[in-house]
Amino acid sequence: EKAGFDHFMLKEIYEQPKAYRDTMMGRISEDGRRVALKEIGMTLEEIRGIRKVQIVACGTAFHAGLVGKTVIEDLARIPVETDVASEYRYRSPIITPDTLVIVVSQSGETADTLAALREAKRNGARVMAITNVVGSSVAREADDVIITQAGPEIAVASTKAYTSQLIAFYLLGLYLAEKLETRDEKWIANVLTSMNQLPEQVESILDQANVLKQVAESISKHSNLFFIGRGVDFAVAQEGSLKLKEISYIHSEAYAAGELKHGTLALIEDGIPVIALITQEQLYEKTLSNIKEVKARGAHVLAVINAGHEGEVSKSVDEMFAIPRTLPLLAPALSVVPLQLIAYYASLALGHDVDKPRNLAKSVTVE
Ligand code: M6R
Repeated sequence: EKAGFDHFMLKEIYEQPKAYRDTMMGRISEDGRRVALKEIGMTLEEIRGIRKVQIVACGTAFHAGLVGKTVIEDLARIPVETDVASEYRYRSPIITPDTLVIVVSQSGETADTLAALREAKRNGARVMAITNVVGSSVAREADDVIITQAGPEIAVASTKAYTSQLIAFYLLGLYLAEKLETRDEKWIANVLTSMNQLPEQVESILDQANVLKQVAESISKHSNLFFIGRGVDFAVAQEGSLKLKEISYIHSEAYAAGELKHGTLALIEDGIPVIALITQEQLYEKTLSNIKEVKARGAHVLAVINAGHEGEVSKSVDEMFAIPRTLPLLAPALSVVPLQLIAYYASLALGHDVDKPRNLAKSVTVE
C-alpha cells in the first residue's frame, strides 16, 4: 500500500504533483482563462457583500491559511484575519453576517475547527470549508465546501493535504478576484498558466531529493535551528519548522526575517543552522540583508532561492537549493517541498517513526 516507498509520508510527498492536478481539475475553464468553482453557492451580491474574511484552522491547515490570507488580500482586496481554531473559539471573535469564515481541515473532523465553524454559524456568518474528506463533519456543516483532491493522507505529518489547500486558496482567490473585478481576465489567465506548470515544477524538485537528504543528515546533528523568511516565505517557514519538529523532534523556530533583530538574533551563534527562504522578488534585498546578519554571527545558512539567483546569493550563504521560477504568490507551492523532504530525511537519519511520531494523532477529535 506504500507503493514501493519506505513510508507513507514519502509516498505522499511524491503524490503532490498529482494532488495539484486533481485539485485543479474541472475547476478551470477549457480555455484556461477562468476559474469555475461550481461548489460555491454564493450569489454575486453575496460575494460583493463580504466585508471581511476569517480563516480558522489548526496546525498545518492553519499554515495554509496564512498563505491564503495573503492570496485573498492580494487578489480580491478583502481584509483577512487568521486564527488558530483553539484561540478563535474562546476569544469571542467579532463575527458579523457580512463575514466569510473559511475553515481549513484535511480530515474535516478536528474538534477545535469544528467548534469554530459552529461558533461562526451561530453568529450568522457564511462558512466555507476547505477539506479533503467528502462527508466529514466540517464538510456537512459548512455552507460551501471546496474539496481538495489530495487523496487519503495516512502519515501524521501533513504534506499533500497542505499543498492541495494552497491550490484551493489560489483558485478561490482568483475566483473572488474575477467576481469582484479586482483583476482583469488576462492577469487571471496568466496566473492559471503558471499554476498549470506547478506539478512539473514539483517533479523537478523531487528529482533532487538526494541533495536534501544530505542537508537533512547534517541538520540532524543539531538540536536547534531557525527558519526565516518574509511575506509568504514566512508562512512557509512556519510550516517547515512544524514539520521538522513533528517528526524529527529537533527544536526549531520560524521567524519573520525582519523580526530577528528584536530579540532572537541573540540566539544566533557559531554553526547554528538557519534555513532562509528568499523567493519573494519584492522582498529580496530585505531578506538578503537579514541573511547577512545571521551569517555574520556564525550561522550556517541554507537558502531556498529562485532559480537564476545562484550568483547573487552564493556569496552570502553556505548552501543553496533553487526552486523553479514561478509567480511570487505561487512560490509556497514549490518552496515547501524541500522543507518537507528535509524533515523526512532528518527523522529517518535519527531513526524515528516517521509516519507515527510520538504523542501525536492523525486526527485531533478531542480538545
Ligand atoms: O485534519 P486537520 O487538517 O484539521 O488537522 C489539523 C492539524 O492537526 C494537522 O495539520 C497537524 O498539524 C499535522 N499533523 C501537521 O503535520
